[in-house]
Amino acid sequence: MADADMRERVNTGIPGLDEMLRGGYFKGTVNVVSGDSGTGKTIFGTQFILEGAKKGEKVMCIITSEESKSIVREMYTSFGWNLEEYVNKGLIVFVDITDPSLRLQKSVEIAPSELIKSFKKLVESKIEEIQPSRIFIDSIEALFLAIESNYKLRTLIDDVFGVFRKHEVTSVITVGAMYGLDSMVEYGADSVVKLGRIIAGNNLQRSIYVMKMRGSGTINEVRVLNISDSGMQVLAQSPYLE
Ligand SMILES: Nc1ncnc2c1ncn2[C@@H]1O[C@H](COP(=O)(O)OP(=O)(O)O)[C@@H](O)[C@H]1O
Ligand SMILES: [Mg+2]
Repeated sequence: MADADMRERVNTGIPGLDEMLRGGYFKGTVNVVSGDSGTGKTIFGTQFILEGAKKGEKVMCIITSEESKSIVREMYTSFGWNLEEYVNKGLIVFVDITDPSLRLQKSVEIAPSELIKSFKKLVESKIEEIQPSRIFIDSIEALFLAIESNYKLRTLIDDVFGVFRKHEVTSVITVGAMYGLDSMVEYGADSVVKLGRIIAGNNLQRSIYVMKMRGSGTINEVRVLNISDSGMQVLAQSPYLE
C-alpha cells in the first residue's frame, strides 16, 4: 500500500522537508525534532506553526524554559518574522508555562510526576479552548528530566502524547540530547527528525535526516540544512564533502 494511503498530510513549512517525508506529517501525529543545542530546533518549530498561521489556521506554542517574549524577539531579529502580528490576530497563542499565573513552574517542592499531570491538564484545556490545528512544544525535556525510572518515563510520555493524538492536532515537539532522554521521547513519537552538525575538514555543515516515520516511506539520506535570513530549508545535497 506504499503511498496509497488516504491519510491527510500537513506540510511542515520547511522547504525541502516535505519531499523527504513524502508529503509532510500525517495529520494528528506527534512529531519529535531532536538535536544538540543550536542545531535549529526552535527555528524548525516556529516555522512549522507560522506556516499554519499564514494560512489562517489557529496554532499554539507551548514554551517550557524561557519566556515567550524571547522567542518572539529572536525570530524577529533572525528572520524578521513578526509573530506578534499573528498573536494580535488570535492565530498564534503562546502558552508560557513559566508564567506564575499558571502555577506550573518547576519547583523542588512539586513532585515531577505531579508537574507532568498538571501540564497535561493545562495543555488539554488549552487545546479544547483554542482548537489549534498545529502545536509546537519547545522543549519537552524540562518536564521529564526529573523522572528517574525509565518505565515511569515511558508511561508519562505516552500519556502526554496521547492528549495530542486524541485531539487530532499535529504537533512538533523538540527535545535536546540530554541524559538519554531524547531516545525515550523518540520512542513514543510518530516521527523523528534529527538535526545536527557535521565537521568535514574545516567545513561546518548543518545536517538533517528523518530517523523514523510511522506509516510512511521517507528519503533515507542525510541532507544539508540551511539557515539563512529567510529561514530554514533543506537542500537536496549531502553534508559530507567528497
Ligand atoms: N539569520 C540567520 N542566518 C543564519 N543562521 C541563523 C540565523 N538566525 C539564527 N541562526 C542560527 O540558528 C541557530 C539557533 O537555532 P535554534 O533553533 O535556536 O537552535 P536550538 O533550538 O536547537 O538550540 C543559531 O545558532 C544561529 O547560528
Ligand atoms: Mg531552542
